[in-house]
Amino acid sequence: MDLKTQINLDVIPPHIAIIMDGNGRWAKKYGKPRVFGHRNGVKAVREITEVAANLGVSYLTLYAFSTENWNRPRLEVNALMSLLVETLKVEINTLNKNNIKLTAIGDLSQLPSRTYDTLLEGVEKTKNNDRMTLNLALNYSGRWEIIQATKAIAEKVKAGVLSPSEVSDQVFSEHLATAGIPDPELLIRTSGEYRISNYLLWQIAYSELYFVDIYWPDFREEDFYKAIIDFQQRERRFGKTSDQL
Ligand code: IPE
Ligand code: IPE
Ligand code: MG
Repeated sequence: MDLKTQINLDVIPPHIAIIMDGNGRWAKKYGKPRVFGHRNGVKAVREITEVAANLGVSYLTLYAFSTENWNRPRLEVNALMSLLVETLKVEINTLNKNNIKLTAIGDLSQLPSRTYDTLLEGVEKTKNNDRMTLNLALNYSGRWEIIQATKAIAEKVKAGVLSPSEVSDQVFSEHLATAGIPDPELLIRTSGEYRISNYLLWQIAYSELYFVDIYWPDFREEDFYKAIIDFQQRERRFGKTSDQL
């Protein structure tokens, strides 16, 4: 059965966030080094980005490297950073052709300079595109982001440009790395792990969570459709009763 036809194109979630997990275990399954998994993970990124843009998703936020991922063996960290540079260099033209804007959230200044420079070049080159935003979470952690926002707000209060009573949900959101981006309606995690791993902690307050037991390199177009179909069958109550909706 064609899954795509089951999707209601009028209610596509504007913002989908994904925790792309399971590259290492996927590689292990084939008796290959973990980096082999990351390389194949890039193929899934390419496919899902294209499919999301075609469906009319406005923002796709991918967890590419967490603050905690620095604790991995140096060889793997280096390989991931090189892969990122390599991929960005190759894919920037495709992103442009497809009118996709690249953005990034996280403590970017702490990335190796080559990674940082390539990333910023990609962001700059695609800044006028407006079909979809591909937002990479890189050296990102939700707690880091919340602390950054808190510091920025505290500075403003100290400087007298903001009063403590003015600090609201909205003001706080505007100080996050995702300022100007709506909260994700749907969060997908692959690999069969049921946790958030410090991802978008503030923004997922009311997101629908979708956990799937597929390693990221195996996550295909149809799996993405399944997640959206599942999402579209849920009743999002936001604290209200079913009858009130
Ligand atoms: C996700 O896959 C990619 C990154 C965290 C960079 P993993 O590398 O975490 O793969 P598993 O979870 O060990 O299988
Ligand atoms: C989360 O995956 C981070 C990314 C997908 C980049 P991890 O594999 O690092 O998460 P944990 O360690 O299993 O929680
Ligand atoms: Mg993992």
